Amino acid sequence: MEQKEDNLKEIISHAKEYGFVFPSSEIYDGLAATYDYGQLGSELKNNIKSYWWKSMVQMHDNIVGIDSAIFMHPTTWKASGHVDAFNDPLIDNKDSKKRYRADVLLEEHIEKIRQKIEKEVEKGIKKFSDSFDEAQFRATNPNVLRNAQKITEIEDRMRTTLENNDLEGVYQLIVDLEIVCPISGSKNWTEVRQFNLMFSTELGSVAGDASTIYLRPETAQGIFVNFLNVQKSGRMKIPFGIAQIGKAFRNEIVARQFIFRMREFEQMEMQFFVRPGEEMKWYEYWKETRIKWHKKLGLGDKMYRFHDHIKLAHYANAAADIEFDFPMGFKELEGIHSRTDFDLKQHEQFSGKKLQYFDPELNQNYVPFVVETSVGLDRMFLAVLSASYKNEKLEDGSERSVLSLPAALAPYKVAVMPLTKKDGLPEKANEVLNLLKFDYNCTYDEKDSPGKRYRRQDAIGTPYCIMIDHQTMEDNTVTVRDRDNMEQIRVSIGDLYKIIDEKVNMRTLLVD
Ligand code: GAP
Repeated sequence: MEQKEDNLKEIISHAKEYGFVFPSSEIYDGLAATYDYGQLGSELKNNIKSYWWKSMVQMHDNIVGIDSAIFMHPTTWKASGHVDAFNDPLIDNKDSKKRYRADVLLEEHIEKIRQKIEKEVEKGIKKFSDSFDEAQFRATNPNVLRNAQKITEIEDRMRTTLENNDLEGVYQLIVDLEIVCPISGSKNWTEVRQFNLMFSTELGSVAGDASTIYLRPETAQGIFVNFLNVQKSGRMKIPFGIAQIGKAFRNEIVARQFIFRMREFEQMEMQFFVRPGEEMKWYEYWKETRIKWHKKLGLGDKMYRFHDHIKLAHYANAAADIEFDFPMGFKELEGIHSRTDFDLKQHEQFSGKKLQYFDPELNQNYVPFVVETSVGLDRMFLAVLSASYKNEKLEDGSERSVLSLPAALAPYKVAVMPLTKKDGLPEKANEVLNLLKFDYNCTYDEKDSPGKRYRRQDAIGTPYCIMIDHQTMEDNTVTVRDRDNMEQIRVSIGDLYKIIDEKVNMRTLLVD
């Protein structure tokens, strides 16, 4: 775990050093859990957005995209349930004055017990080596069984207290488990309170309840309220989807782990409207489609796993997370939810407007059911960055930092370099740059030795470096260096566009 946390620290410092992510308003010592994307970070982020948008909208003739406002009529959030139920249970430690999510304190306690089990298993592996039967050990070892039983009991109490909004029960559980504050080490806790996660602000100059509006905590509601607008103006037939990428805001009590949990973040969401009764078929379809989309990036199939929800949100009849192996361990990257007809029905009720679809095949009106896919853009960014970051020892004993980003997502697709700054090489390099720069983001670099320039490009994840040397002036050929295996091939400038295009075009990710 420590090793992984060090790894996250290294990634954060690499991201800052090379212009991917900066702490926000750093000259004023920053603002907790708020980050700015730098010159390379915004390129990578745009490329991730583009991969998502193209695969959703361009590749599906029954999915269209919108861009709705962040501010919405306040009744939207009453109807969606966010005003009444978008809460986290929080608890304060009176000595450290630190605030925690009560459910997170409990989950961390459970995780510690889980680690005890794993340690016991590791001891068994060491002791019995080849003859070790792990399944049998887990089923019979008294220490493992005692700890597993503890976990079940805590989870049961946690589930019932949280589901019944029994805040006293949650408090009592924390006390019974003798959970201490990680900062002060004390058990001096306040009671548990519910804390609404929505940010509110005043519309116009008049203060008061009537003018209180919210910064949207999810982009999905902008899609629901536009369901009929899009369906009618786009003559959409069910099943169809509406996609959107945009900012969302949540006043997270504990915002941390770099860009994993922030108060201002971006979501890429798609609501797929289907016939009532067909939602489970589409739920399975989208689970499979989304995991394929992730795996296509080539970060390693083992980096992903599904986590099916046991405790469902009030609007869902099935839900699963796609979890990613972040530097902090497996955590939620994307949610796939079967949201039933809850949202549209609520909006019908609160607005007094019908949000129904006439199905010509069934000759019937109905409120469609919805299957949602929702992935955090910043979490995608962290997933791609952390899985791509490597420190390698090379054969000659030297080291390099490399970002082996999927080529189609890399901020620069190629770096064009003249071997020297004279003999017409820079002019020739500019000719090569002009061949590529209208389709691909390229960079030009003529400073320092070729070795240093290659290292710089490796560190920012540029998949190909094109070197213009004296032979180029004679036979119009250049060398193309591959970031990952560091091999160089000599190719004719006439073939360059095709060679690069085949490797870095977004098409490589979109084709089945
Ligand atoms: N419309 C459904 C919805 O908002 P969610 O599971 O609350 O569902 C969806 O959020 C995704 O948004 C998450 O899987 C995560 O990737 C991202 N996300 C949620 N809260 C976040 C935060 N505080 N910081 C960064 N990303 C967040």
